[in-house]
Order: sequence, then structure tokens, then C-alpha cells
Amino acid sequence: MRGIDAYLRRILAGSRPIVVANRPPVDAQPRADGRERVTRGGGGLVTAMSTLARATDAVWVAVERGDGDRRLSQRAGPDGLASVTTEDGETFRVAYVSPDPEAFDLYYNHIANPLLWFVQHYLWNLGREPILDARTAHAWREGYVRVNEQIADRVVAEAARLPHPPLILTQDYQLYCLPAFVRARIPEARLQHFIHIPWPTPQYWKVLPRHIRDEIVTGLLGNDIIGLQTSLDARNFLLTCEENLGLSVDHRQSTVFFDGRPVWVRSYPISIDVPALEALREHEDVRRHEEAIAAWRPEFLILRVDRTDLSKNIVRGFLAYERLLESHPDLRGRVIFWALLQRSRQDVDAYRSYLGAIVRAAAAINRRFQTGSWMPIRLEVEENMHKAVAAYKCFDALLVNPIYDGMNLVAKEGAVCNTRDGILVLSENAGCHEELGRFALTINPFDIDQTAEALYFALTLPARERATRARELRAVVHQADITRWIVNQLQDIRELLAE
Ligand code: F6P
Repeated sequence: MRGIDAYLRRILAGSRPIVVANRPPVDAQPRADGRERVTRGGGGLVTAMSTLARATDAVWVAVERGDGDRRLSQRAGPDGLASVTTEDGETFRVAYVSPDPEAFDLYYNHIANPLLWFVQHYLWNLGREPILDARTAHAWREGYVRVNEQIADRVVAEAARLPHPPLILTQDYQLYCLPAFVRARIPEARLQHFIHIPWPTPQYWKVLPRHIRDEIVTGLLGNDIIGLQTSLDARNFLLTCEENLGLSVDHRQSTVFFDGRPVWVRSYPISIDVPALEALREHEDVRRHEEAIAAWRPEFLILRVDRTDLSKNIVRGFLAYERLLESHPDLRGRVIFWALLQRSRQDVDAYRSYLGAIVRAAAAINRRFQTGSWMPIRLEVEENMHKAVAAYKCFDALLVNPIYDGMNLVAKEGAVCNTRDGILVLSENAGCHEELGRFALTINPFDIDQTAEALYFALTLPARERATRARELRAVVHQADITRWIVNQLQDIRELLAE
């Protein structure tokens, strides 16, 4: 058992939390030999919560999303829990919830991703979209609310088996209604919800119909504590309660009063498991990828690692690189921009067409500048953590230019793994800018000229300045790693329990 595991158990005084998230902690894919390949699920949420779930033997309540999940859920024992061990030896106890496919589609592909994700990342061109109608209300009621109720039923059933009061840790924007449903049935429950994505201003929430935006906030106010990534998100949440719902808010104590209860609103910047990543850095498969990279890389390597999500701003990143090649022709043939991307949410139209736009933009730039064997952009769409870690080790500039982002763990992973004093080019709208901005080159993600110049500086800064910035970035992430994120939340919960 790692030291952190023992510490977390001590803080929780033996009580086992229930973690609730849309995504399960594990993924399963069939292998060529017919056996199942079970790995830890992707995304920052799973990375972060799995440390806590593993250490505290928590039950993880999640939605069954496809064939792989279905096969794993069939492993459930008489207690209804599937005990699943990944190929790296981590074991999770998962309670799968299986909504009917139509309700799941409305919940995930009509409300959570194209609507809530878009509101919370300011992704709309408001002159044209969204166009809301009766179908929105239908998808909300029959999809989002229904699936939240169904998950709440399962949480209540799991809670009934635990010593009271249960501690329930709910995650992210797919489950906003759930806390109030659980609170109504277990008034003494301790409920904490962490929101992994940005919380926009009260005005922008007004794009959504009133009944939806108010149910989101009152659903969340079923919690005792609401955790957000940054102080700006926490401020926006308090303002939303005050301005959109007329609730009473104490800004100095960062507390909202609702239904006769105080609800704490706190910021906990999420982070990464540094020791685990450092161990992965030495993995033999990572080393193999590193050798392969050394064989093709030119003098300078610019890297990005992202899901193919509109919020990540991948196309503008390519346009900025095109400007760089235009304004600094001496770099042609000496640099490659490597975009290592993971396919995301391809059942949603906007995501599918965005992937097409990414491929077209890269191809156009390659056609324009390609000479001999030099291809300016290397675009790979693949989910491969070992390759990503090898790439992190080798970059000279890491481009993290999201339109808006809750935190962005790529920036933190890159800082910890890199071995070349690589420079982080960072959007001022990424949540991690609050912590890392001082040691990065800050950009406005919409300004491709500024981004191009920042990339140029990143590649040409004097060695000593590169080394200082890289060292400071690493130090910030080491100091505020995932342990800090979890411990800060649990300490607040303990304080609450003591009241
Ligand atoms: O943190 C944002 C988030 O949407 C998580 O909720 C999710 O697990 C991850 O990104 C990946 O998204 P998805 O589960 O939709 O692939």
C-alpha cells in the first residue's frame, strides 16, 4: 500500500465513500486472441478519482455505455458489484447502471455534450446557435433527468449497505440533478460534487431555458460542498446563485444558503499522480516509443496531446503553426508539429465534423509546405498513453491553447515528463493558467499571430531561461499533485462532519 493510501484511509476514519461518475473507472476491449483487455478508463476525471477509489475501497457507480461495459457489468457478483482488475493490477468495485439506450442517447448525446459542455466552454456562435425547442425540454426530462434519477436509485441502494451517514462524491456535468435526488431520500447523507469543467458567468447560463438552468443549480445545491477547479469558477458559481436564482450568498465565506442549509463552494485545482507518472516514464514500452521518436524527429518538436474536442482549439493551433512557417521560413525543414489526438464523442455531429476540420487543416498545411521527406505536421489519431508519455519526454514546445478548459492535465503531465527543458505555450483560459501561467508563455487562444510568435519564442529562448522555466513548472506540479487535490477535499469534508 502506498503512503497516500494509508493517509486517505486515516482521514476517512475507515468510512468507504461512494464515487459517482458517468464514466466507469475501467475500459474493456476484446483482444485478437479473444480475451478481454481491461485498462483504466481515459480522461482526467478517471485518473484523479481512481487514486481515491483504490485507496478507500470505494464503490464506483457509473453508467454502462457500450459493449465493453456490458461485458464487465456481467461479472457482477451477488452483491451487484463487478470487481474488475486492470492489466496494471488495479482493482475497482463498480456498480453499473444501465439506462435504456434511448434515454442514454438523450442524456449524453443531446444534453450533456452538445448543450452543457457547450455552455460551460462558451462554444456557441450565439448569432446562429443554439436553436432550442420542445425537443430540448423532452431530452432534458426523458434523458438527462431520467438517467440522473436512475443513477440516484442505485446510489441510494448502495448507501443503504454502508454505515450511516454515507459519504457520496459525485462528479461532473453529467450528474447535476443527482445530488438533490439523493438528498431528498437520505437527508443526513454527506454529499460533495466536483465539477471538472469551467463554470461560466450567470449571463451565459441564460442561453439555456430557465427551468433547465435553475434545475441544474438547485440539483447541485443538494450537496454540502461544491468543488470547482479555479477561484474564478467558484466566483462564477456564487454569482449564478445570486443573480439567476436570487439566493442568499456569503462571498467572504464562499457559501450559498439554500433550503435552510449552508452549501460550501470551494476551488480545488485538480492534478496528476506524479509518482505514478514518473514510474510510467521509465516503462519499457515508453522507452521503445522514445527510440522511435528519436529516429524521425528533426531539430525542433512542437507537441499537442488532446481529445478531438472543439474546446481544445486544435484547428487554430494549426493555423498559428502555419503563420510560424510563413514568418520564419528558416524553420522549414527543422521543425515538426506533432498532434497526438484521441477521438472523442463521435456520436455528436459537432464533434464528428470537428475531427474532419482538423484532418483537412493539417492536410492543407502539409500540402502547402511539404518538401522532400519533410512533412510539417504529423497527425496521429490514437489512444496510446505510453506513446503520449514518450512524446511528453521529447517536446521542445508544448501547445496547450484551449478556448476554455477546466484545468488541462496535459500541461501538468508534460511538465513532469519532459527531459529537454521544453516550454509550455499556454492559453490564458485554461484552468491551470492560475497555477502554471507564471512559468509558461501565455497566449490568447483566438489570436493565431500571437500564438505563432509564442511558439517561435518557445523554440528560441536561451538555454538558461528554458531550464529555469521548466524547473519551476515541474516544482509547481510536484508540490500540488493529486494527493493535495484529494486531501484538501477530504479535510473540508472532515471539517463539515465535525460541525
Ligand atoms: O473532465 C471532463 C470529462 O468530460 C469527464 O467528465 C469525462 O470523463 C472526460 O472528460 C472524457 O469525456 P467522455 O467520458 O465523454 O469521453
